Amino acid sequence: MTTWTKYFIPGAVAALLLCSPIGAIAQVTPEEAIGWHLFFDKNLSGPRNFSCATCHLPDKGYEGGEPLSKGAHDDLLGRNTPTVVNLQENEFFFWDGRAGSLAEQAKGPITNPNEMDLAIDEAVTRVSADPLYRTAFKEVGVDDIDEEAILDAIAAFEMTLETGPTRFDQWVNGDSNALTEQEERGRSIFFTKGDCALCHNGANFADDDFHNIGTGTDSDRGRYEIEKDEYYLGAFKTPALRNWKLREPFMHDGRFRTIREVIHFYVNPGPTKIGKREIDPIPLTAEEVEDLVAFLEVLNGDWPDLAPYQAAWNRLVAQ
Ligand code: HEC
Ligand code: HEC
Repeated sequence: MTTWTKYFIPGAVAALLLCSPIGAIAQVTPEEAIGWHLFFDKNLSGPRNFSCATCHLPDKGYEGGEPLSKGAHDDLLGRNTPTVVNLQENEFFFWDGRAGSLAEQAKGPITNPNEMDLAIDEAVTRVSADPLYRTAFKEVGVDDIDEEAILDAIAAFEMTLETGPTRFDQWVNGDSNALTEQEERGRSIFFTKGDCALCHNGANFADDDFHNIGTGTDSDRGRYEIEKDEYYLGAFKTPALRNWKLREPFMHDGRFRTIREVIHFYVNPGPTKIGKREIDPIPLTAEEVEDLVAFLEVLNGDWPDLAPYQAAWNRLVAQ
């Protein structure tokens, strides 16, 4: 069954939750606090100039803010930096889905010579040499810090990165006044005429699957690189539309700067370079484009508050 919200909560409880600060509800565990610290730690890159957050910037929706990010040695990467929020339910990571878990994924950028360029053993040595990490890891029962402990902590932190309820969640939860007339028209385009929900479905508006919408090129064939099956030529992982704002530019190569440019592409995609495009052009009028944008705006909620992680880390290392 497709779930349209991860915030399905009875009215009374909802009212209570909306009145309390998120930090007060969600207790940050010691492992998550360690993961938070590692995520922002530049010592995890060879030249000590890059952390995960250098590319996954919290104020850019945990993306890079540019079509392509540069790595620790100033090399331009091959793909746009995707967000790291709302990945709890994901089975596949990276635009081509080549990693199967967050812990497995995290090793990629640390060791990749174009990204952070640090051998994993050296990462373990550096983290183990830091008395604060030694104190912190002892709290979670790890006396000898190893690769697994580091990657698991980063993954544990990422698993907590969830964005807050949106007006669309309110609507799904039964508040029929949550959307304006224009947003209602946009919703209908999203689910019917535009058929966006064919792929952008589920709690985060992404099906965790791969599709060819006509964006593949000879230099990036998407999921095909992993599957080596013609069916996947030019197919990329459907990105989540929940909290798309701040995450511009869009697509695996960051080719579109604005949400309107993306929609114009769906209306008039031009020729497909590789593989078979799964969808036909969607004939939307200028007014319908605006209605759809208005609806997409409603899918944005609050970004995670990082202050509780800092507080939890401070408590952890003060012991
Ligand atoms: C130099 C920039 C850069 C750094 C540093 C970096 N990333 Fe990334 N990250 C990327 C890019 C680019 C991709 C997409 C690559 C691809 O799909 O082939 C990505 C993908 C991801 C994904 C997959 C998201 C999804 O939806 O599939 C996660 C999770 C992630 N990074 C977490 C991290 C973590 C954790 C660190 C630190 C250990 C990190 N990244 C460091 C640029 C970076
Ligand atoms: C057949 C599946 C499919 C349909 C239908 C579809 N999309 Fe997408 N969408 C994708 C895929 C796959 C990507 C990523 C392509 C890439 O990165 O090159 C994407 C990317 C996007 C992005 C960029 C998000 C980001 O983080 O980069 C937006 C916005 C978007 N789609 C909105 C829509 C809207 C609005 C509709 C309906 C008019 C729609 N999509 C219909 C599969 C689909």
